[in-house]
Amino acid sequence: MPQPPDPADVLVIVAHPQMEQSRVNRALQRAAVALEHRGGDAGTPRVAVRDLYALYPDYLIDVAAEQAALATAKLVVWQHPIHWYSMPPLMKLWVDEVLTYGWAYGAGGTALQGKDLWLVATTGGPEESYRPDNSNRYFFDAFLPPFEQTAALCGMRFLPPLVLHGAHRASDAEVAAHAAVYAERLGSHPNWPEMDELAACPACEVPAAERPPESAARAPTHVIEKASA
Ligand SMILES: Cc1cc2nc3c(=O)[nH]c(=O)nc-3n(C[C@H](O)[C@H](O)[C@H](O)COP(=O)(O)O)c2cc1C
Repeated sequence: MPQPPDPADVLVIVAHPQMEQSRVNRALQRAAVALEHRGGDAGTPRVAVRDLYALYPDYLIDVAAEQAALATAKLVVWQHPIHWYSMPPLMKLWVDEVLTYGWAYGAGGTALQGKDLWLVATTGGPEESYRPDNSNRYFFDAFLPPFEQTAALCGMRFLPPLVLHGAHRASDAEVAAHAAVYAERLGSHPNWPEMDELAACPACEVPAAERPPESAARAPTHVIEKASA
């Protein structure tokens, strides 16, 4: 059973289904892991990294451990490649199962309020492909509202994402520079220059009637299927 990490100020959730084939996310993960044992010195945040595909190869997420890991975090990072204009499947399952009604949002769901959420993503498509006259047809920002609103529903401030477009064509020097920016940001949160200009998170109330009953909401369907098979 995976254990929650030591209390962290910055919690990095990494999700890459084929990390062994990754160039960019692997470099980013390495940069974050390098901060794990250094945190807390001289006022720097304590950083913890949770690699979802390594922790849960069977997709059986330990919800209590994930929620415990989130408890102390002031910054929650979602670090993953963009898959089908969204997040990889285990990251989505993490959202479905960990961000529960009454805990993350809805009546009594205040566990994440006041935290920051930072999307750190890579795309295969180069920046110019994300334009109305090119293959991805929309500017990349057009794919962000589901992320931003997920944060808002949980009372989290959605920070400007860090995105590396055209990941396969990025040079080694570009990947290294990107990882250095990432590490600098992780290690200096919340003292980022743009923080004062960011709007506070809007309040979003979700009535209980808009969600399934507690028992149905808490039982992951794939576990029910396994148990009854
Ligand atoms: C199933 C799948 C879906 C993908 N969907 C997208 C997409 O919607 N947009 C895009 O720009 N790239 C897409 N890609 C490319 C990945 O984003 C790209 O391979 C990744 O960002 C490279 O990072 P890495 O070096 O860490 O693997 C997809 C890749 C896979 C495997």
